[in-house]
Amino acid sequence: MSVNAMFGRNRFKLGIFSANADGGLAITRVPERWRAGWAEIADLARLADRAGFEFFLPIARWKGFGGETNARHHSFETISFAAALSGLTEQMTLFATVHVPIVPPVFAAKALATIDQASGGRAGLNIVCGWNQPEFDMFGVTKAEAVYDQGYEWYEIFVGVLKGGDPFDYKGQYYDVKGVEGAPQSVQMPRPVMLSAAFSPPGRDFAVKTSDCLFTTFATIEDGAETIADTRERAEKVGREIDVYTTCHVVCRPSQAEAEDYYEHYAVEMADRAAVDQHMEMKKSMSFSHDPKVFRDYRKRFAGGAGTYPLIGTPERIAEELAAMHEIGFAGTTVSFVNFLDELPFFVQMVLPKLEAAGLRVAS
Ligand SMILES: Cc1cc2nc3c(=O)[nH]c(=O)nc-3n(C[C@H](O)[C@H](O)[C@H](O)COP(=O)(O)O)c2cc1C
Repeated sequence: MSVNAMFGRNRFKLGIFSANADGGLAITRVPERWRAGWAEIADLARLADRAGFEFFLPIARWKGFGGETNARHHSFETISFAAALSGLTEQMTLFATVHVPIVPPVFAAKALATIDQASGGRAGLNIVCGWNQPEFDMFGVTKAEAVYDQGYEWYEIFVGVLKGGDPFDYKGQYYDVKGVEGAPQSVQMPRPVMLSAAFSPPGRDFAVKTSDCLFTTFATIEDGAETIADTRERAEKVGREIDVYTTCHVVCRPSQAEAEDYYEHYAVEMADRAAVDQHMEMKKSMSFSHDPKVFRDYRKRFAGGAGTYPLIGTPERIAEELAAMHEIGFAGTTVSFVNFLDELPFFVQMVLPKLEAAGLRVAS
């Protein structure tokens, strides 16, 4: 088996995030916004795969955010999404984003083993303990008070299944399961590569104890450096090492003015304000996925890309910002666009060579 792309040679790794959902990460009314039709997703996946992107990461969403567009109402389920893409791609890691309270660990283990076998060791698990209770209500489950305590139990059962061997019982506070077994095992051992999406201190602790990578947000480069230092300290305390990935939305244009004008157009003038308000309110009250100052100071980033970091400008400027992110220690980032398929080719053509020239990536 070849090495999973998440452990490949590029010093700064790139992924595509949220292409399985309408709008991608944006919350905007512009007509060219991402509709997440299957044919365009398939084309995008092939393009990203050929361009050497390391991973394709879907968002786990079950309900829209209202407003005029009901942003994210349309989204593909992420385990079957990763499985479907395995036949269309050759080298990328295909993540499934799995909600701990919704998906039982025994099911997730078998599903991930299936994708890993079908893809030749390219499955990935993005474990999300979750925040959105109205979504959980659709499944009749309630988010645990100590959501990460449930996460640890989930993880132990998940890896227990993938280990193979004799059937086992597991009795914890959240799971009481008996005679657990499973085959086949995953190709990647002891389990497929794992991201954990979180921002809070308990979320970082969970990531360093269970996963290969923390997938997190940042408001400024200085804050990002602090998050990385804090996460590394937490990892050191438990004798592990972990990569820290982040997430950005991108407007890349030949001139700075063009990029900024378009950002203003889709993320301010054409923002779906009611959906942005609902998204921000829900996130503020139910999730810790962002530094509180992002809600206060960076409203535009929510319409722009669900509160992620904006990369707005020329290819030179964006390459410099990505290099700065590498410099402070991020192992990589996801990128999202208003229309992935229209905009990714320019990014690939203009930004990737600059990252290669900077020694952060090699040509694919
Ligand atoms: C970068 C990132 C991506 C996330 N992706 C999802 C997702 O796809 N679906 C979801 O329900 N929650 C997602 N979350 C939310 C987490 O599951 C979690 O509920 C949230 O970060 C609050 O937990 P914390 O205490 O770890 O910060 C994401 C969080 C981050 C930071």
